[in-house]
Amino acid sequence: MLAGKNILLIIGGGIAAYKVLELIRLLGKDGAQVVPVMTRAAKEFVTPLSVSALAGAPVRSDLFDLEEEAEMGHIQLTRAADLVVVAPATADIMAKMANGLANDMASTLLLASNKPVLLAPAMNVAMWENAANKRNVAILEQDGKLFVGPENGEMACGEFGTGRMAEPEAIRAAIQAALVDGPMKGKRVLITSGPTHEPIDPVRYIANRSSGLQGSEIARAFVRLGAEVVFITGPASATRPVGAQVIEVETARDMAAAVKVAGEVDTAIFAAAVADWRVSRASDDKLKKAAGKALPELDLVENPDILATVSQLEAGRPKLVVGFAAETENLVKNAIAKRLRKGCDWIVANDVGGERAVMGGQDNQVVLITEDGAEPWPWMSKREVAQKLALRVSEALV
Ligand code: C5P
Repeated sequence: MLAGKNILLIIGGGIAAYKVLELIRLLGKDGAQVVPVMTRAAKEFVTPLSVSALAGAPVRSDLFDLEEEAEMGHIQLTRAADLVVVAPATADIMAKMANGLANDMASTLLLASNKPVLLAPAMNVAMWENAANKRNVAILEQDGKLFVGPENGEMACGEFGTGRMAEPEAIRAAIQAALVDGPMKGKRVLITSGPTHEPIDPVRYIANRSSGLQGSEIARAFVRLGAEVVFITGPASATRPVGAQVIEVETARDMAAAVKVAGEVDTAIFAAAVADWRVSRASDDKLKKAAGKALPELDLVENPDILATVSQLEAGRPKLVVGFAAETENLVKNAIAKRLRKGCDWIVANDVGGERAVMGGQDNQVVLITEDGAEPWPWMSKREVAQKLALRVSEALV
């Protein structure tokens, strides 16, 4: 299953390090070449001799060991790897990674690596839930690092809770999932996201409350499934997805132009909250108020409708075009009508007028409208909505 794959395994200093011996054995059985690296603390928990014997390769641990460096420089170690696995990923290693520190072999390799990284965290429950650790985990997730675990259960320290390292079998499954081609491999996906800003004058603009989080999460979900993702975003606050081609735009007209330039794609997901109108002629100078002067009049004109344009393309139309509908009333009825009016295949409809703030919030409750009807999904995080949607799209494209 993993034949020919090179896995750089960084072993952190935690009691769970003993489980890594079993992981090395499993990966060896799968045909992978494991290149082991141990932190100084890791050597207090398992011996380099056991690790190198099971891996069939010498353990690397010293950044300044001339012999080791002469054999294979540490940068070369990361270049040769298909995947970097950190197990156990201690709070210390993750803090270094989140902040870009490089003061030993393990952290230097992680900073120098341009390969996917899978983390198997292990620590005491209070450490896992500590605010600083939570911040670091959130940063690493945003940076596109993959996680397996931690699990809930009894820990070596005698306490009970989340923080136990995933079992070797679970880490092996996560490694396989990271290395084996995803269902969207070879497919090109276009995603629009965020609000647009429509200038009134050089300092003022018309905008909306979209954060771009749902669009960013959709892009991340497709990257994880192996797709080539073109991500066109307006001025959104959400972090840009790692692994996607990111194109930043400001206005609806910029977005329409960027979509055109992006060329042919297998599927297009229009999650952006595009402004329907713009000021017909934005002023070159800042509009000024003065006593007795009439109020400025904003003459609005319609923006190009990107979703409708792409849905109705005669040549080069994506196989599946998905629009979003943000409604404050008659959600399903309006969304069904919108699907037909725009000519898209699916509509992801969400109620943006309810008590729970969807626009700018972390969670979403959507109804998926397809030609078969309306399918309500429960409340879930925007990340879960994204993963479910990406899977549905990948199933529809085969
Ligand atoms: O027409 P309405 O704004 O309600 O439609 C929402 C859907 O259409 C979203 O998918 C949005 O990204 C897309 N849209 C667009 N171009 C516009 C307006 C909306 O692509 N000018």
